[in-house]
Amino acid sequence: MRHPSPYHAPGFYDTALAQGRHRDIVGGRWDETPRIVLPLLAQHGLTGSDTLLDIGAGSLRLGRHLVADLPAGHYWATDLSRALMLKGWETELDEDTRLKLPPDHLIEDADFAFPAIPDTITVALAFAVFTHLPADHLSRALANLRRFPALRRVIFTVFLAPEGTTGPHRQADGVVTHADRFPWHMDSLQVIEIAEKYGFSALNHPHRLPRGQALFTADPA
Ligand SMILES: C[S@@+](CC[C@H](N)C(=O)[O-])C[C@H]1O[C@@H](n2cnc3c(N)ncnc32)[C@H](O)[C@@H]1O
Repeated sequence: MRHPSPYHAPGFYDTALAQGRHRDIVGGRWDETPRIVLPLLAQHGLTGSDTLLDIGAGSLRLGRHLVADLPAGHYWATDLSRALMLKGWETELDEDTRLKLPPDHLIEDADFAFPAIPDTITVALAFAVFTHLPADHLSRALANLRRFPALRRVIFTVFLAPEGTTGPHRQADGVVTHADRFPWHMDSLQVIEIAEKYGFSALNHPHRLPRGQALFTADPA
């Protein structure tokens, strides 16, 4: 059986982490990604008093900056691999930042079930996560995010292809995406309909993002 993404191959994280590849695992671009993404998060409403859930946070490529910018204890993260998040915590955070992020805020979660995430979450982010997964994962995430009473915005990226695309699609910076295998694309209407189904009103924002990803915000309707 084909795995939905390379992350799901047996032993993927163990092997890559043993080789010291925790930055590569999340796509490298270690400085470029936060330089582009952090101002967009502020533009789309993330403030210094929010409580953030960083879904699929990886080795904290964005998290290391977000923890520093938010009040202590206001950053929570989930990922398919807790070992990957812990590697980021150990190696990429300075001591002050580590003090602001208790390791029990880094939670392994393969199903977008968000176990042990508190009700105080106000914003959820999933950057470069649903680009790696079939559309039912976005559905599951949005369905399960509905239980957070203070949530006012979800910010996420996907790869888009024009409606009716049947074959592969080449993104702006060259990545070739697919409807039926990794890296996955959807069409814009499909994203908006999934969001609506789970009670969110979604908007596609025309930013230029690494690898040609498209950014959406989804607000509880
Ligand atoms: C390209 S990386 C992006 C990491 C981080 N969001 C960033 O931008 O630096 C994709 C991340 O999604 C995580 N991931 C893949 N499948 C997942 C799943 N089913 N549930 C949670 N996280 C998943 C991977 O472990 C990886 O850390």
